[in-house]
Amino acid sequence: MALHTTTSFLLSSLLLLPIMFFNLTAFADPITFDILNFGDKLESFAAPITFNVVDFGAKPNNIKIDSSKAFESAWKQACSSSRAATIYVPKAKFYIYSATFKGPCKNNVITLQMDGTLVAPPNFHLTAQSKTWIIFRQVNGVTVLGGVIDGQGSELWACKHSGKTCPRGTTSLQFTNSQNIVISGLTSLNSQIYHIVINKCRNVRMERLNIYAPANSPNTDGIDLEETSYVTILDSNIGTGDDCISVGPGTSNVLIQNIYCGPGHGISIGSLGRKERENGVQNVTVQSCRLKKTQNGVRIKSWGRPSTGFATNIRFQHITMTDVKNPIVINQNYCPHNQGCPGKESGIKISDVTYKSIYGTSASLVAIKLDCSPKFPCKGIVLENVQLTYKNGNAKASCINAQGSTVDMVEPMGCFEEFLSSI
Ligand SMILES: *[C@@H]1O[C@H](CO)[C@@H](O)[C@H](O)[C@H]1NC(C)=O
Repeated sequence: MALHTTTSFLLSSLLLLPIMFFNLTAFADPITFDILNFGDKLESFAAPITFNVVDFGAKPNNIKIDSSKAFESAWKQACSSSRAATIYVPKAKFYIYSATFKGPCKNNVITLQMDGTLVAPPNFHLTAQSKTWIIFRQVNGVTVLGGVIDGQGSELWACKHSGKTCPRGTTSLQFTNSQNIVISGLTSLNSQIYHIVINKCRNVRMERLNIYAPANSPNTDGIDLEETSYVTILDSNIGTGDDCISVGPGTSNVLIQNIYCGPGHGISIGSLGRKERENGVQNVTVQSCRLKKTQNGVRIKSWGRPSTGFATNIRFQHITMTDVKNPIVINQNYCPHNQGCPGKESGIKISDVTYKSIYGTSASLVAIKLDCSPKFPCKGIVLENVQLTYKNGNAKASCINAQGSTVDMVEPMGCFEEFLSSI
């Protein structure tokens, strides 16, 4: 009994991780092999069992039929399978009004393998009741591989542009309360509002994503992270009407690398400080990214009001900007319509932010703007090898309540004179 308990414990801790997360050394460990040979869960490592959504009643290329229930039935089978399972979506369009994939599941290796396209109904009233179009809840070890999801947001955006009263819209894809998630090779088009939201998750890898919505589509963020830790976002193209990537409150240990962003509002930490009690953001690295014709480059943004939150240990490095309106920006005075921001003093404490090797062109005169909280000035800002120009000439820097230092060549200059003259 004791042996059995130990074995299942070891097995389940191993199985918590999908294959992609395995460190190869785990396989080299002979003890690990002995334990695996023991267990009936060895099945999880055998070829996965495949569930084709068409076998569950999904209707390829039929605009009149909602295939949501068929997808959910396929998910139920995959989720209740004790061995690794694949849900297969063949090459065709499938209409989905709204789908929920809920765990916990009996196995921790579930792949949604898509050769096809999931399409939301163009009539936004059909999807507007759900906050999220496609949602995974409480899952562990789910991989979304390939495919296209098309939120068909254009009618909702048109409604919003017309000034009529319209629903808020749905997020296209969300993972919530989940862990060990991979999204690889997915294309997300024209979400009604956000494309991908990762909320309260741990250990998430997103790679080779293509995310597109027009520059004037409202609130169509590319990827939003909230209350999530250990996230990698790699090798992706994002062009939207709002933030390409937004790193929200309570998020930590994030690597964002090799992202092309544009059009859009850039790569953003925040908005922070919307709530008075809020968790901080820490250990975020954004590197080797290119931004083109975006409203912001790399930004930290907080509401100008009291909050327990913070942002610390943030690195932006090896970033190229082309015609970016605000290439480097901290704005702690965000307060739309000037409402609910008494004294406009942000409680968010920003510290240890490095901007290193940032090159390119600004589309406005002020290329570096650090506008920090009067109550909690930004601390430990480092500008190292920054060169940003405006119209083939010099750009300007504007820094308020910001303390820090420059290393090597920094243009435009002018942020930390007080600091420099005091040493
Ligand atoms: C910072 O985040 C990265 C990316 O997730 C992670 O690899 C690293 O271990 C984290 N560092 C610390 C000190 O937690």
